[in-house]
Amino acid sequence: MTIRKPRVLATRHFPPDVETRLTASFDAVLNPEDRLYDGPALVAASAGCDGIMCAAGDALTAATIASLPASVRIIATFSVGYEHVDVAAAAKRNIAVSNTPDVLTDATADITLLCLLGAARRAHEGTTMLRTHNWVGWTPTQLTGVHVTGKRLGILGMGRIGQAVADRARAFRMQIHYSNRSRLPADLEKGATFHANADDMLPYCDFLSINAPMTPATRKWVNAERLAKLPKGAVVVNTARGGVVDDEALIAALRSGRIASAGLDVFDGEPKIHQGYYDLENAFLLPHMGSATVETRNAMGFKALDNLEAFLLRGQAPPDVVKAS
Ligand code: DGY
Repeated sequence: MTIRKPRVLATRHFPPDVETRLTASFDAVLNPEDRLYDGPALVAASAGCDGIMCAAGDALTAATIASLPASVRIIATFSVGYEHVDVAAAAKRNIAVSNTPDVLTDATADITLLCLLGAARRAHEGTTMLRTHNWVGWTPTQLTGVHVTGKRLGILGMGRIGQAVADRARAFRMQIHYSNRSRLPADLEKGATFHANADDMLPYCDFLSINAPMTPATRKWVNAERLAKLPKGAVVVNTARGGVVDDEALIAALRSGRIASAGLDVFDGEPKIHQGYYDLENAFLLPHMGSATVETRNAMGFKALDNLEAFLLRGQAPPDVVKAS
């Protein structure tokens, strides 16, 4: 008698080593062309599936989840952020949801520093000048940016990634301020200044790094009023989720020079980003690359598979289960 392997839909084309393990463990439905499914296509592709391995960018809304076939029992997202999965709707259907924490902390913290330095040191203007053959040679006043070493860095959201950003920033002798739901114990705080109210931190932020998840409470949190509380000439960095920033407000502040520059890896409504950003020389922009290293993407895939295998092959709770808050 042959035992049927559980069927898992991979909504995206995942790294080769991840797909090799996925197909060894499961009857895998792959997406080699990496087409992004819309809701109805995702529901149709899930026919007969026990699990779904999805990623940031797949909109698993309440309506889509409500229409999934009864066979689907787990949604394992290949991401730490899970705002694209309606966890409450999944719970209503008794569908477990898991994510991939920890393994992308370092890669995302690294790209945060890239954004911070890229914005402060005018990297976009420098590379553009060079690649468009407009570099006339070194001059004493050329592309002078914002000094980083010794400045104050405010971190909104001091979870794993925020803490890893702080560790890196300490190497630049930055003074760390942070705001978080709760104060960290001293061994994790490492001398950083805690602000119970994030608004109170803003005047201390020569640099503001957004490392908080996207929730109804953080949606468009960085708005005109809050940008006005930052010191003039501050730098804003976002490697968390684009929706935490009010684009119109940030673009206006970058245009006026009230905010010196921004380093952004994530955008509201990505990949369709606000046209205003393209027109700004002082915006250092990356296409959501925070976790994009071979090692990290493999580790994310293996973590998603750990969750699927625990649940579908061994009948255990997924180790990285997430619950509706
Ligand atoms: C995540 O895991 O949430 C990232 O944004 C994807 O790189």
